[in-house]
Amino acid sequence: MCGIVGYIGNRSASNVLISGLKRMEYRGYDSAGIAVLENGEIQTVKKKGKVSELESQFNADAFSANLGIAHTRWATHGFPNDVNAHPHSDNSGKISIVHNGIIENYNILKQKLLSEGCKFKSETDSEVLAAFIGMLYHKVNNLEEAVRLALSEVNGTFGIIVMCKDTPQKLIAARRGSPVVIGIGHDNEYIVASDAAAIIQYTKNVIYLSDNEMAIINGTGINTKTIDNKATHNNVYEIEFDLSQIEKSGFPHFMLKEIFEQPETIQDAFRGRLLVDEGNVKVGGLRSVAEKIRAAKRIIITACGTSWHAGLVAEYIIEQLAQVPVEVEYASEFRYRNPVISEDDILFSISQSGETADTLAAVVEAKRKGAVALGIVNAVGSQIARETEAGIYIHAGPEIGVASTKAFTSQIMTLTLFALYLGRMKNLSFSDGKQLAEEIIKLPGKIQQILDQADKIKEIAKQYAQAKNFLYLGRGVNYPVALEGALKLKEISYIHAEGYPAAEMKHGPIALIDKNMPVVFIATKDEIYDKIINNIEVVKAREGKIIAVATEGDENIKQYANHVIYIPETKPILTPILSVIPLQLLAYYIAVELKCDVDQPRNLAKSVTVE
Ligand code: M6R
Repeated sequence: MCGIVGYIGNRSASNVLISGLKRMEYRGYDSAGIAVLENGEIQTVKKKGKVSELESQFNADAFSANLGIAHTRWATHGFPNDVNAHPHSDNSGKISIVHNGIIENYNILKQKLLSEGCKFKSETDSEVLAAFIGMLYHKVNNLEEAVRLALSEVNGTFGIIVMCKDTPQKLIAARRGSPVVIGIGHDNEYIVASDAAAIIQYTKNVIYLSDNEMAIINGTGINTKTIDNKATHNNVYEIEFDLSQIEKSGFPHFMLKEIFEQPETIQDAFRGRLLVDEGNVKVGGLRSVAEKIRAAKRIIITACGTSWHAGLVAEYIIEQLAQVPVEVEYASEFRYRNPVISEDDILFSISQSGETADTLAAVVEAKRKGAVALGIVNAVGSQIARETEAGIYIHAGPEIGVASTKAFTSQIMTLTLFALYLGRMKNLSFSDGKQLAEEIIKLPGKIQQILDQADKIKEIAKQYAQAKNFLYLGRGVNYPVALEGALKLKEISYIHAEGYPAAEMKHGPIALIDKNMPVVFIATKDEIYDKIINNIEVVKAREGKIIAVATEGDENIKQYANHVIYIPETKPILTPILSVIPLQLLAYYIAVELKCDVDQPRNLAKSVTVE
């Protein structure tokens, strides 16, 4: 949710920290702050608003410090304001911390600290943790032991970095439930962050802390151990992406760049996996669980938001190709409803970030009940990827725009590969498998054809940008695409939008339709095309404005729709990968027309690491 970064080395800490904050700003952007150890004193600047606001108060070049920490916030406890912004210090002012996560027992700790004379400036749980560490430091006179003892008593989640003016050569980092990555540079330089994006400019070598693990970085090296004081060992990994992948590369927004990357990201999802001549799929990540997959009697998919929509699409595809029952559920509901799970179940958790708290909790719950837990994850080495027994990375590369786009299509692509793999283990014929594989490899070119119509979609967007509401309707495998189209629009333009199965409209939403209501239909050619035309006629009869996403060559639809956006023909179960692209562009251009902050929409954050 929040972004934390810490630096120790020979460079100017303030410059590394500010650039790290900018690269992680998509994680949270309601306030930001920095603390550096300058001439033996901790200098702290905190500001409500974006990192640019902080920069207006903090001239990084004016500081020569080699040690510091910084934070970009998505508020949980207390309003976004200067005081609640991080870093937070203890009562002595010697210790400063940045924290990502939630300290659930902060109130109990706060009462205890108040009774011992502590004072608090902010409303945050994080300041309580800082004060607690400070109080213990006063008693044990050892920073790492104070941090360790404090974290042993904390309930909740944390990724933290701690510095202390008494130990100018030391940073301490720890995690539980919130990611911490440590970049290892040259000459004992270390960059600690919640995201590799803040690190890659300086080094590609990283270690990932595990839950309940802490790192003591003392300027000559790094030691890791568990919070209950057992030494640990961490392998060094190489970050898989390049700096260019986390830059806008000439696009006005990350979201547009990521929409336009989809021909490549789809290819990256099936490259090396799709065996066209065999009509089959090879998935290295599932090799160790192949027999369990073959024996599975049911597949459960859990996810949140856009990833949940990808799961709904996958339900249609897996059931059609493999004839295995699939259930899709919001992870937040799944984790709390005592679900019936058996050892014959496979649980897929889908997550772009690999950090989403509810999805992670669903994995833990399913594992506890004996299911085989698998991941469909984008962020390599993330917590969900590590917590699941096996899985498939979607290889979409870093997604920075808060509204998920390329991850959605890559999630569907990856799950389609899984469905083909499972289908071929079961009754799907060689020729059906081969035909599908031959269609899959044409998808990147077809996506490009849709992207080439961006200007036309921009024009439609301009005409409807002032609408107060939108309806999105689709049927079958395109019903979840309607949900996704509506979510994209509301996330970034703040226009109220609803997605429905088209036939459900007559059971209520039809009451909303009048001449001011734009209705986006996904009306591609498939076995229920005639039914969706009936639904379109019903809207037209009530003067609703119809924007249809239709199959190339369908002239018939023009008589019903006010606007038609054509997508190339493909196999019906593959259409979501194409039909969602015009909806992503429509949402994007409407938000731009309304001058909304497309990449960092209000109240949102890229990964939701709180319940
Ligand atoms: O990282 P995840 O895929 O687990 O995230 C799930 C949702 O939080 C995410 O898809 C969210 O709905 C996006 N803002 C959608 O654009």
